[in-house]
Amino acid sequence: MKRATLAALGLATSLALPAAADDIKVGLLLPFSGVYAALGNDIEAGFTLALDQFGSETDATFDIVREDTEVKPPVALAKAKKLILQDKVDVMAGIVSSGVLGAVRDMVHGAGVPLIVANAGNDEATGSACSPFITRMSFSNGQVNRPMGRWMHDQGIRKVYTLAPDYAAGRQMIDGFVSTFTAAGGEIVGQEFTPFQKTQDFGPYLAQAKASGAEAVFVFYAGGEAISFVKQYDSFGLKAELPLYGSGFLTSPLYVNAEGPAAEGVITALHYVPTIDSPENAAFVEAFTERTGRVPSEYAVQGYDSGRALIEATRAGANDRASLSDALRQVSFEGPRGALSIDPATNNIVQPIYVYETVAGAEGLTQKVLARLPAEADPVNGCDMAPVSN
Ligand code: BEZ
Repeated sequence: MKRATLAALGLATSLALPAAADDIKVGLLLPFSGVYAALGNDIEAGFTLALDQFGSETDATFDIVREDTEVKPPVALAKAKKLILQDKVDVMAGIVSSGVLGAVRDMVHGAGVPLIVANAGNDEATGSACSPFITRMSFSNGQVNRPMGRWMHDQGIRKVYTLAPDYAAGRQMIDGFVSTFTAAGGEIVGQEFTPFQKTQDFGPYLAQAKASGAEAVFVFYAGGEAISFVKQYDSFGLKAELPLYGSGFLTSPLYVNAEGPAAEGVITALHYVPTIDSPENAAFVEAFTERTGRVPSEYAVQGYDSGRALIEATRAGANDRASLSDALRQVSFEGPRGALSIDPATNNIVQPIYVYETVAGAEGLTQKVLARLPAEADPVNGCDMAPVSN
């Protein structure tokens, strides 16, 4: 079946041989340049920490081949093809951008290579375009934002203006928020999508938000765009009159100190903050900080849990593409974010969501948890999960 699919794709006629139990070749496909480069580096740091920490629990050893997506879907597709056909990796991990995930999905599915998604929240990858070979250890775009629509309405907010970059993640994150906010009775008084990776000046959009009659602004921005947005929002003088809310990527611990005081008081929601009070998180924060000199972000924990999922799969005896795909969908463990499991209907992670405020702490900005919202599986969204066939 896999040979036939590859041939049909015109890609190759010979299959990768199954690896010996002690040698798993891993293709790490991440942005190491471009607007999400810091995110890619944090995911890699978490991933390698997990392999080092839990590696003694499995007979397998891991040989990593790194490739840079540059946050460009065509570049990422070419790199995925190289990893699959030339390097003959047993498993792939990574992917930060939803656009990149959309671009590589058919290649990964057609070749039958297990992919552990360590960031990209593209709803379709665990919805209408789901695959038994794609398991997500990060979040889906809707999952992170739907709870915030209800929560903000519960706080008495009724009129919101939304902003996000114009690509799959921006649109899906905002859709997730809008669906629950409007279902609760809230109103979206205006909405804009800014050119992705091209917007330097958010001024014209902020002027529209100010004139919209909104009581609050809800946004998704990440990486370099989040830093520029939060700083400009503050210097535009909007923060006091129009409180800023968003997806927690806006004020990630990875770059919140680059945003500085402009980030103070911003309220966002996410599946991980380093201030979660649990022994598992305390141990992770200590190990990651000791290794990198910085507090772990959501990106770091996603890399860490992806590495740990790979260890768990090999502990269960998986050692080739098909058995790894099967085993990855069955992992569950208590991690730094809390209890994690994979929904077999979609292969998306099930996890709680934390609403947090960015506040000044003793060593810079930190995350004050305001609410822990219960774990929720995504709706199936058109996913028809076929079994892995050998
Ligand atoms: C995405 O494209 O899915 C994404 C990128 C950065 C942070 C969160 C999501």
